[in-house]
Amino acid sequence: MALARHIHEQVDPEQIFSQLQNDGSKAHHHHVHIKNAAESITPYSSRYASQAEISKYIIPQDGAPADSVHQMLKDELDLDGKPNLNLASFVGTYMEKEAEKLMIENLSKNMSDADEYPAMMNMHARCVSIISHLWGVQKGETAVGSATTGSSEAIHLGGLAMKRRWQERRDKEGKDRSKPNILMGSNAQVALEKFARYFEVEARILDVSEKSCYRLDPELVKKNIDENTIGVFVILGSTYTGHYEPVEEISKILDEYEKKTGIDIPIHVDAASGGFIAPFTHAKAGGPKWNFALPRVKSINTSGHKFGLVYAGVGWIIWRDESYLPKHLIFELHYLGGTEESYTLNFSRPGAQIIAQYFLLIHLGFNGYRAIMENCLVNARLLSKSLEATGWYECVSDIHRPKGVHKLQPPQDIKFGNNNANGKKDGETSADYNAGLPVVAFRFSDAFKKDYPHVKQATLSTLLKSKQYIIPNYPLPPKEEKTEILRVVVRESMSLDLLDMLITDIISVTEALMGSDPIDLTMFQPGPSVGGEKRVEKQLQSKGVGHDEKHKAKRGMEKGVHRTVC
Ligand SMILES: Cc1ncc(COP(=O)(O)O)c(C=O)c1O
Repeated sequence: MALARHIHEQVDPEQIFSQLQNDGSKAHHHHVHIKNAAESITPYSSRYASQAEISKYIIPQDGAPADSVHQMLKDELDLDGKPNLNLASFVGTYMEKEAEKLMIENLSKNMSDADEYPAMMNMHARCVSIISHLWGVQKGETAVGSATTGSSEAIHLGGLAMKRRWQERRDKEGKDRSKPNILMGSNAQVALEKFARYFEVEARILDVSEKSCYRLDPELVKKNIDENTIGVFVILGSTYTGHYEPVEEISKILDEYEKKTGIDIPIHVDAASGGFIAPFTHAKAGGPKWNFALPRVKSINTSGHKFGLVYAGVGWIIWRDESYLPKHLIFELHYLGGTEESYTLNFSRPGAQIIAQYFLLIHLGFNGYRAIMENCLVNARLLSKSLEATGWYECVSDIHRPKGVHKLQPPQDIKFGNNNANGKKDGETSADYNAGLPVVAFRFSDAFKKDYPHVKQATLSTLLKSKQYIIPNYPLPPKEEKTEILRVVVRESMSLDLLDMLITDIISVTEALMGSDPIDLTMFQPGPSVGGEKRVEKQLQSKGVGHDEKHKAKRGMEKGVHRTVC
């Protein structure tokens, strides 16, 4: 044991590999190798098969044939997880082949070349119109918006417009404009806090609690707004647990504040996932309004690449009326012979995702999106109920509990329904349940933890990875971080068959852990990922970033939004 540890401490795989390789190359002239990859018959008879590593940090002097490089990179990428089993992500991993075909046919089109690609630009404009109607654009208002690279860029634009409008108002009133602040819950995704930091706005990150369903607490909003508040970020729904934040309730608080003080504080809704779920599902946003039906909601973002069902690379930002997009943020571009208005952070960006978004809106229509979103919720309910029925797990997410019920139900009270194979009772819809994202956030039940104190959720997550499922385990936001959750995002591609296998695997891995020796399990506790850290370190070094600097951007979790949740 001592020897093994001694050896382990001395081992540097990179060093061993390069030593062996040098020895090998000394002996090389005794071997028959084809010298240049260009002369090779197959990728595995090229110099990359055994003589040379693919260059990682410096451009090689000579190139190599496409088929060899393709094969080598493809082999390296086999080390990645399987996107369909990446249950940690909200981002879509499935598109129909006609959509893929359209994307491939249009891969070379650049969104910044409006004048060159008028048909694509028309599709962009149609998407903006369709989405703004889905979000309740009001008569007499002219909604404006744009595709972005994702929700993050869209959130930054929405936040920036709020900051500029607040500054313009303060200037008009002759008041100080040096201390803008914005409110968000500590469950906010990192993009929201990033906006505050990058655009120099104080982030007032409000604690979440079990009472507030781990989402923005309206009581705390009331206490933290003032004349310097540029706006409130309200999330539909929370990245941690899928809960929708109470947009209408917060809107009413801001209405009362305006009545008392004359100060008008806008809402930007971060509907990264919910923007393509709430409009289609029977549950909507749970009854109360969340979109442009509320006058206080001035802008909304969503990720086309989440429940918009497009592959990664597209988000949307819409303002309810052009008057809420300050003129100062709009650039008139005279480029390649035309004039275009631009209000995005990026200039060049792919157009294929926007074409794919339009394809999906037309191909699926309202009913197609509704069927997919309702299916995701049916399957998320089935997973939640199955987990709770064991008595070993408890869901922190809520979409499987009858509407208005937020407490854990005893296993014997859980109703699976008795008509359909998938547990969906005839005529039952998401409207019979709490509204939210198709997310299953679960933890070991208190009874389980008492009986099996040596079994840790992180170990369950690690062992599920060996079955290819990526199911992260992470703490809830600051102040609630003593509770850790495992989270599954039920996307379109989680069929009933896969769900069945997932439930079986979660249960069988848990059973195996229950019967394991506590000492054996200690080796599965998460520690620093040695290989991963080394690889990242090397990349940073090659860019001239030292070990100390690498950690500078990191902060303690207790001070803000978690970094691990995406
Ligand atoms: C609520 C929320 N907002 C913003 C984002 C960032 O979205 P994107 O990855 O599209 O930039 C996410 C991503 O998961 C999210 O869940």
